[in-house]
Amino acid sequence: MARKLAAGNWKMNGTNASLAEITALAKAHPDPNCDVLICPPATLLSRLAEKTTGTAIKTGGQDCHAASSGAHTGDISAEMIADAGGSHIIVGHSERRADHGETDADIAAKTRAVWNAGLVAVICVGETLAEREAGQTIDIVAGQLAGSVPNGANGDNTVIAYEPVWAIGTGKVPTLDEIAAVHADIRDRLTTRFGDAGNDMPILYGGSVKPSNADDIFRVADVDGALVGGASLKAEDFGGIIAALERA
Ligand code: 13P
Repeated sequence: MARKLAAGNWKMNGTNASLAEITALAKAHPDPNCDVLICPPATLLSRLAEKTTGTAIKTGGQDCHAASSGAHTGDISAEMIADAGGSHIIVGHSERRADHGETDADIAAKTRAVWNAGLVAVICVGETLAEREAGQTIDIVAGQLAGSVPNGANGDNTVIAYEPVWAIGTGKVPTLDEIAAVHADIRDRLTTRFGDAGNDMPILYGGSVKPSNADDIFRVADVDGALVGGASLKAEDFGGIIAALERA
């Protein structure tokens, strides 16, 4: 069985002042029955990791370079994120795929770097609106999974996040049947390729998850949690999503 995970992706948001939200979140959820992860911008990683020491909240990066060190101005490595106190790293977010031209092969290389640093990779997949409207959702997601998830993935080193691009930051959410169809297909492909380990990898849904829709989404089969953008920035909103996952 996959562990449940509520993951927050702060994207390019957050300053020192935002750490107060983490204090409030840790206080409100001292002992959740699911994993809780916050991925702040790199500037806040080590301070957030310090702040969450002794709490149930884990800290993660939003991206990393595929190399462990070297002449790559502006980039950070998985080792650096581990050193800063991170436990997870998001790789292949659609904003990285779109803004930085990241390919499935790039994401597979980054995932190996995450594993080499001893951390957990949160590998993102998801179709655009044009791809959904063309009936290509399952094929697109299957292709991204095949290309982005390296051999050796298991429930200890990998989380999959299904994030339809058109649902990110838009307030639009697929129907529960649409989410169920994609998650079932992902689970099927993971178990076909990785055997029992495919059942242990959490599959998160991401895209406009809010406290108001979280209960319904978490009742969908093979939804093991959420990757949350906007609603992870406020302790009250993210706390509502954690509470929904605890009930699921
Ligand atoms: P929103 O929750 O803001 O739609 O963002 C989802 C996301 O991209 C998380 O990685």
